[in-house]
Amino acid sequence: MTSAGGAPVPGGFSPPPYPYERLRALTGRAVARFGPDGVVDCSIGTPCDPPPAAVLAALASSGSERGYPTSPGSPAYRGAAAAWLGRRFGVTVDPDLEVAACVGTKEFVASTAQYLRLRSPGRDTVLYPAVSYPTYAMGAELAGCRAVPVDERAGGGPDLASIDPDDAARALVLWVNSPANPSGQLTPLDAVAAWGRDHRVPVFSDECYAEFTWDGPPRSILESGTDGVVAVHSLSKRSNLAGVRAGFYAGDRDLVGYLLDVRRHAGLMVPGPVQAAAVVALHDDAHVDAQRRRYRDRLEFLAGALGAAGLPVALPAGGFYLWVPVPASMPSSGPGPVGGWAVAEALALRAGLLVSPGEFYGPAGAGFVRVAVVQPLDRLEQVAERLAGIDLTTPVEPSLPPTG
Ligand SMILES: Cc1ncc(COP(=O)(O)O)c(C=O)c1O
Repeated sequence: MTSAGGAPVPGGFSPPPYPYERLRALTGRAVARFGPDGVVDCSIGTPCDPPPAAVLAALASSGSERGYPTSPGSPAYRGAAAAWLGRRFGVTVDPDLEVAACVGTKEFVASTAQYLRLRSPGRDTVLYPAVSYPTYAMGAELAGCRAVPVDERAGGGPDLASIDPDDAARALVLWVNSPANPSGQLTPLDAVAAWGRDHRVPVFSDECYAEFTWDGPPRSILESGTDGVVAVHSLSKRSNLAGVRAGFYAGDRDLVGYLLDVRRHAGLMVPGPVQAAAVVALHDDAHVDAQRRRYRDRLEFLAGALGAAGLPVALPAGGFYLWVPVPASMPSSGPGPVGGWAVAEALALRAGLLVSPGEFYGPAGAGFVRVAVVQPLDRLEQVAERLAGIDLTTPVEPSLPPTG
């Protein structure tokens, strides 16, 4: 709500600080100590590796710049997405009725609750994982809805039995994310789909890390059929194309059809050259296999280096994040940084490694830090050299001098 002049009024929405902006001060201190080229940024999950050359060539040569692109995606785009779903997960979807484009998946995650609420004004609740990518909860806020976190069950995925029946009756959507950012855990997607069908709650399954599944084959919620479920996929991670903004959603034809219609009115379109490039990327799996090897090598290397410095961490079941528990010796209260912030500070100032405090992903993440292995191995080796002989289980002494 705003006053006539557009100024905020009490109770009106005020966007919180963007999580990574909160790392700015710590980044500055790390740069002061290690120099701008000495800091190794593993805080944000942004790919650093090259996309396939053929994809970049398609981006520059599609000839699609002059006309408006279609909002649902060209037949080639939807066809490539459907073919990829068939190849990767063995599922069949109708590219004309059950698949549509989104402009990367963040905007889709952030806007879907708002659109679902317009259609079902009697519902006002978004269910999402208690420790998760922050945009599920932000999507609820932007829709003026209740964001209700669902606790994780041991082993990964939502503790479905813990969902209050009243929250379920009011739910517009249950979001799941498998493999999960930040924890790397896998969700039993069949059970979640069954719960959604039983409770008449649409389940949206964010599967943008599916091809980086380490424990078993990649899984999609669509393997349990399309009824009441939508899978959300991105080219950002699989093909190192976060900069071009391409994704798609696929599943229940009523949900896909409704969202496709409303998104068309809202003017959401993947640019034509990007659609052409995405088609090439979706038809190729070899570059994804190479990327899997890179991430796997980096995960193993950095887990070893952190463990040797007093931060033992298990390898994830999927994804390219290490979800590192904060040692009990770190402060949990007091005037200085606590919990994940204390570990983030120790890594930044002792090793020049930037990581994210776990509370970026919800209060239940406060006892962790997230390390994205999005830097080449030689940069991670630099971190490991700095870590040799260092103990990360104690907070940084306030007088830590610059490295010079
Ligand atoms: C779980 C999850 N979903 C969605 C996204 C958004 O990715 P994009 O908008 O690039 O498709 C991210 C990005 O980090 C993510 O971690």
